[in-house]
Amino acid sequence: MFERLFRTKSIEQIRANAEEPEHGGLRRTLSAWDLALLGVGAIIGAGILSALGTGLAGGFDATFGVTRPAAGPALIISFLMTALACGFTALCYAEFASMIPASGSAYTYTYATLGELMAWIIGWDLLLEYAVSNVAVAISWGSYMDNLLQGLGLHIPRWLSMDPRTMLFPTEAFAAAHQGALGLGDKLHYLAQAHAGTLDGAAVFRHWAALKTAPLVGGFPVGMNLLAMLITIAITALCVWGVKESVRANSIMVAVKVALLLVVIAIGAFYVKPENYHPFAPNGWRGIQAGAAIIFFAFIGFDAVSTTAEECKDPARDMPRGIIGSLVICTVIYVGVCAVVAGILPYSAYHGVADPIAHAFTAIGMNKISAIVSIGAVVALGSALLVYQMAQPRIFMVMSRDGLLPPWFGKVSPRFRTPLNATLLTGVIVLLPAGFMNIDEIIELTNIGTLFAFMLVCAGILVLRVKRPHAERRFRAPAVWLTAPLGILFCFWLALGLPRHTWERFWIWLAMGLLAYFLYSARHSRLGRPSER
Ligand code: ALA
Repeated sequence: MFERLFRTKSIEQIRANAEEPEHGGLRRTLSAWDLALLGVGAIIGAGILSALGTGLAGGFDATFGVTRPAAGPALIISFLMTALACGFTALCYAEFASMIPASGSAYTYTYATLGELMAWIIGWDLLLEYAVSNVAVAISWGSYMDNLLQGLGLHIPRWLSMDPRTMLFPTEAFAAAHQGALGLGDKLHYLAQAHAGTLDGAAVFRHWAALKTAPLVGGFPVGMNLLAMLITIAITALCVWGVKESVRANSIMVAVKVALLLVVIAIGAFYVKPENYHPFAPNGWRGIQAGAAIIFFAFIGFDAVSTTAEECKDPARDMPRGIIGSLVICTVIYVGVCAVVAGILPYSAYHGVADPIAHAFTAIGMNKISAIVSIGAVVALGSALLVYQMAQPRIFMVMSRDGLLPPWFGKVSPRFRTPLNATLLTGVIVLLPAGFMNIDEIIELTNIGTLFAFMLVCAGILVLRVKRPHAERRFRAPAVWLTAPLGILFCFWLALGLPRHTWERFWIWLAMGLLAYFLYSARHSRLGRPSER
């Protein structure tokens, strides 16, 4: 049994699988520059457009009685620390990709090094990276779309713009007066009093304007992110139909995103008030760490570049340049945007704001710029949604091919020629939380899962250096015995910045994954069949 858990798929076997007719024959056309653009396309999204606000202003969640300490303008340092963590990890990804050029990314790499159980855990984790992160992107899209519609004079009812948990957030003053944790029962009790007029709703609930309009079912307010749900349905339909990811479309999207953020920097710079940079780090390193742990989300995506190793002209030269290049471009832009947004308003003005960039411009009366930002964000986030929503079913397919998931997940529809079941399932997985969950909690869950996957990739590269020192590596991570441990250390530091309840949820998630592995995957693994050994 023990042996089974750690059985590995050989690199040769993975390469052979990748060369099966449906995967083989890819043309080597991508240059380092193409890779960097692909990376920028995958990286820029809800992180900078939404999580930036929480990073700057911190957050307060009375349900758990926790505070995410604000980084304040020192979020700039958080961005640099996170970029370092990703840089070290990126070098490990690049080495893996040059050895094992097959789709499946970290899942496939781990299968070749740390064994089947770890690979399964990573696959389970990638569900957090792709599907769950898309929940956050969908919610962020909804916020910017809502902002845009309001600018056009189209107001959807407020209770259709917010999930019930966010709606029930108490004001900071009220929560502080009630010693932190306020249970759901307490909140519903205060809500009933506010409706009866015996309590001032605005003094108790941060989003009273939305909450007071929400219909009640058994005393519980019905609220949802309607726009986030609608975009998820639309994107899922597009994925079922089988839109093609084209390099041209990607280049246009990258241009839109980069132009959008450069405009924010160029115009916003004129409205920066130096006094907003004081205090620079209101919560010292604790704030910087908590900020880094949340804006890590803004960097996720560079790992997707490694999956194109087979299509690279010269992976040894171009892969590291492409991945590191995309990280450098994004870091420079992010630091610029952060400096400007933190300088326009005091950092605390971004508390609980899901569209901080548009918010900054609206607050200083520049509604036209705010509208342009919202249009750009809606386009950019829409494309990010599409890319991730297509990536998740592919991971399901690879895992199903390995026998770790039932064949149902890998079925391709003869009519649409897309993985219909996996695509629809991904849609459902994203749809419900997009409608009913709070964006910060989703981002934190995504981050912890992805950080865990990153740490395993860094560990895996060391294992492979020891176990297969002579295997062909078209790219070798420089000073690997320093790079990989630093990658692990930095990622761990970021994970420590996440609130305790995120860790608890992550352990529950892992426990569910282990249960599924032992009940199904361990027994059905293709590697376990005699013919595959
Ligand atoms: N980095 C991606 C984003 O910010 C996940 O949306």
